[in-house]
Amino acid sequence: MLQGKKILLGISGSIAAYKTAFLVRLLVKAGAEVKVIMTPASTEFISPLTLSTLSKNPALSRFVKNDAGEWNNHVELGLWGDLFLIAPATANTLAKMSQGLCDNLLLATYLSARCPVMIAPAMDLDMYKHPSTTRNLELLKKDGVEIIDAESGELASGLTGMGRMAEPEHILNAIELFFKQEAPTLPLRGKRAVITAGPTQEPLDPVRFISNHSTGKMGYALADQLKKQGCEVILVSGPVSITPPEVDKLIKIQTAKEMLDATVAEFQNCDLAILCAAVADYRPKEQSPEKIKKRDQELTIELIKTPDIAAELGKLKSDKQFITGFALETQNEEKNAISKLNSKNFDMIVLNSLKIAGSGFGHDTNKITIFDKHNNKLQFELKDKKSVAEDIVNEIIKRVI
Ligand code: PMT
Repeated sequence: MLQGKKILLGISGSIAAYKTAFLVRLLVKAGAEVKVIMTPASTEFISPLTLSTLSKNPALSRFVKNDAGEWNNHVELGLWGDLFLIAPATANTLAKMSQGLCDNLLLATYLSARCPVMIAPAMDLDMYKHPSTTRNLELLKKDGVEIIDAESGELASGLTGMGRMAEPEHILNAIELFFKQEAPTLPLRGKRAVITAGPTQEPLDPVRFISNHSTGKMGYALADQLKKQGCEVILVSGPVSITPPEVDKLIKIQTAKEMLDATVAEFQNCDLAILCAAVADYRPKEQSPEKIKKRDQELTIELIKTPDIAAELGKLKSDKQFITGFALETQNEEKNAISKLNSKNFDMIVLNSLKIAGSGFGHDTNKITIFDKHNNKLQFELKDKKSVAEDIVNEIIKRVI
């Protein structure tokens, strides 16, 4: 249910902190990745070692990491999470949150977080019903924080009443419900896509290969954008040096044949394909098992065609599947792109031209024109590849939803 969700768990200093060991286990079991941030007071109630072991990530409690002055970057943490859950949230922590105070790592991360925030308060019954706590909870609600109500029962003070932190199972239910409610708003929820990206390398011998200048930037930006729109993404990538986005499956390949095998196998279970890879069109006919020695003035290498992955997918495509291809051109751009749209049985093709400055290989930007099989033509400005990916995915959404 929480597969792939990134949950920041903030723990403040209450006896209920001991229950977070169970909570972390439940979240991890449900498929979430969990990073723990603790207030200094909470480390008196449960050890960071317990939480780092269960979450498989360091449990952080200080701004400064070590004597070398390295710091725990609360901004990065705040941007990382899909959800920031603060459980238990003490009267002190929620009061500070409501006022924007920031004297520990948890609070600094709260102020940096762009994701939704949920809190599970825990305190003694009189503290819980105190007007200042009620006021602070109201302020937090106004700030968009979702409150998982405290529960009634026996309290650490010996008193009985409202104030116990919600049980870990109840917190898990609240989180699952939250993601379920959020889910239908994403247009590609329930769809699965395969994307090819980067170059292929066609070996000549153990040290040399034929390839091209593709960096994977365009394909990786598309994979990221599809994920953001709720799509399940399988990324088939040639060798690149950039960091892959978070996807559901990353298949690394080297040659066109390997890319063909992986892509065809995945396409059968996909609704969408985006073919952004710069596949080498030819490969050396023979691959020498040893390094080819430098001998004569000239060396002739015989090349043969690689498989055309796009054309193969075009043949396999059912009425329910949608393929977006790319065309990288240097001349007769529009004519060649439309010809590829038809010959490879694409539903839509994205033309980028190496003739336009800042476009095509390597750059962080691209300028594209989209053609579809209903003779529509859409021209876009030069933009960064992230925005180009948004434009392409929006056009796909318009045609498949
Ligand atoms: O990776 P970057 O540095 O960000 O650069 C991005 C890019 C320029 C590589 C990308 O935007 C792009 O244009 N990719 C397609 C490059 C290409 O090979 O174009 P093409 O016109 O030769 O191929 C047409 C289509 O057939 C493409 O969808 C291609 O993936 C596919 N193809 C081509 C040959 C082949 N053997 N198999 C294929 O699937």
